[in-house]
Amino acid sequence: MHEIVTLVVNRDVRPVGVPSHYTLLEALRYGLGLTGTKQGCDKGDCGACTVLLDGEPVLSCLTPVWEAEGREVRTVEGLAGPGRLHPLQDAFDVCGAAQCGFCTPGILMSAVALLERNPNPTRQEIREALAGNLCRCTGYTKILDAVELAAARIAEAAGASGSASAGGQGGRPGEAVAAGARAPEGPDTAGEREGGA
Ligand code: FES
Ligand code: FES
Repeated sequence: MHEIVTLVVNRDVRPVGVPSHYTLLEALRYGLGLTGTKQGCDKGDCGACTVLLDGEPVLSCLTPVWEAEGREVRTVEGLAGPGRLHPLQDAFDVCGAAQCGFCTPGILMSAVALLERNPNPTRQEIREALAGNLCRCTGYTKILDAVELAAARIAEAAGASGSASAGGQGGRPGEAVAAGARAPEGPDTAGEREGGA
């Protein structure tokens, strides 16, 4: 039996007719065609299906669609602005933090939630925030580097917008790495490959 569920996805009101047993993940992918959110294990183990529900990361494969009715859902499709990437997406590109990319949407959404509640996380706090997101390809180090770089760039951009004298113009947003931001393959990241996020 199908039901009409009204979701608010990336600020768009999206009624969708789906079987009543559908998860939020299934409604996004098969009801609305938003395939950026990945279906990995489908049982709560991998984090590939992470989206934000009212700003909090949830595993959409374990979330009944009716639980999301009328609430704010954010998916990876909603991250980029017109003509430009979200700073996290750009940092993942710069740092080489995505390889096959299957885990990337879920990791981006967990990282967005982290930076919105804690704009200046420690490396350990980043690790903890991403602990539920598995990646089979990268060894995690470049992902941690990318989140640090994005945090530094967001802070830099916020500082520049608050100070007319800041001279950070030119290139893509945050093209110059902020002072204190770690280089993508800095020596102090060596050895994290085994540790995971
Ligand atoms: S697909 Fe949801 S946790 Fe793996
Ligand atoms: S980049 Fe392949 S699983 Fe993470």
